[in-house]
Amino acid sequence: MSDQPVNTLLQPFTLRGLTLKNRMVISPMCQHAAIDGQVQDWHLVHYGKFILGGAALVWTESTAIASDSRVGIADLGIWSDEHIDGLRKLADFAHSNGALMGVQLAHAGRKAFSAPLWEGGHALSPDEITRSEISWRRVGPSAIAASSEWSTPDALTVAEMAEIRQQFVDAARRADAAGMDAIELHYGHGYLVASFLSPHANHRQDEYGGTRENRMRYAVEIATATRAVWPSNKPLFVRLSCIDGVEGGWNLDDSVILARELKAAGIDVIDCSSGGLSEEVKRSNVPRGIGFQVPFSAEIRNSAEIVTQAVGLIVSPEHANEVIATGQADLIAVGRAALRNPYWPAEAYRKLSDSDGFEAWPERHSAWLDKRQPMLRRFVGDEAN
Ligand code: FNR
Repeated sequence: MSDQPVNTLLQPFTLRGLTLKNRMVISPMCQHAAIDGQVQDWHLVHYGKFILGGAALVWTESTAIASDSRVGIADLGIWSDEHIDGLRKLADFAHSNGALMGVQLAHAGRKAFSAPLWEGGHALSPDEITRSEISWRRVGPSAIAASSEWSTPDALTVAEMAEIRQQFVDAARRADAAGMDAIELHYGHGYLVASFLSPHANHRQDEYGGTRENRMRYAVEIATATRAVWPSNKPLFVRLSCIDGVEGGWNLDDSVILARELKAAGIDVIDCSSGGLSEEVKRSNVPRGIGFQVPFSAEIRNSAEIVTQAVGLIVSPEHANEVIATGQADLIAVGRAALRNPYWPAEAYRKLSDSDGFEAWPERHSAWLDKRQPMLRRFVGDEAN
């Protein structure tokens, strides 16, 4: 038996100047509900539910750093100062209710502009995007389409890459002005930076292509530039697709090496996702199962000695707790489990702490729930859990 104390899902966790009240995080989830990138009532209610639900940190959906390269037409945006006030409402509500709020910064690259899942989730055709009357562009390291479904992107020039790097920096400044506690750079799911990492998408002949070191260069440059403007007391996360899941693609060894480089560049946490490079790859890649991405987190945490966030089909509090207790991750992000029940973290607290009270709920609710409990127990016995 080791003398090391065992961590739990319910323990606080400190990252730079920020203390998360527990290890539970709400994963970024696109809502396709914004107008010109602006926060709407939908977002206040949607994120508000998670803020009240007991998670320590709530991520915004992928929030576009550039108007012309959003994941979907109705993504949240942070490409102009006009977006700051709306985002501040989310951060303020989180702070006044005991949670932290982070923003995921994204440039969708060659996979810009897809339809919401309930409309099929397909790549929008040039005609469909043009009808929305916004300027748009698909770009990547090379003129290689994500799959037959997607139009061929323009290969970025080095000058254009510098402009996009600056868009990340400007977005970080705005995120700070909006009171956000953390930033996550979206380097996963086949979007711009992920496409630079993968030899399948990146055929460049310059210093950004070819060797792994070259393919990682842009990712590290963006991280370094963002860290330079992001306050030193606030953490920076990177969401990585730890593997492409295809022969000859980006793999876990690559991710460990990149994680070390990113740590040196001032990144605090690797959020371990996978896949999404192209639609064909998506169908053939990483076998799904409960906690299927946890082994990526464990490997990166232990080999690169960096804090990790595990995500992906983590559905029970007991499993989430075990992932933390066995040192496979420091934080657990849940997505769909929280769509089903925004109080997933509060329920997890109640279950794992064997608490009989509702202290993980907002006090406006918990006082009433606590008062009801003995009565319920009298009427329905142990079912009144
Ligand atoms: C997502 N996911 C996602 N990931 C991301 O990095 N940025 C995003 O904006 C989105 N958008 C999104 C929308 C919706 C509705 C879902 C369900 C998912 C992926 C998400 O963050 C998470 O990694 C996966 O859903 C896997 O975790 P769960 O849902 O199994 O806990």
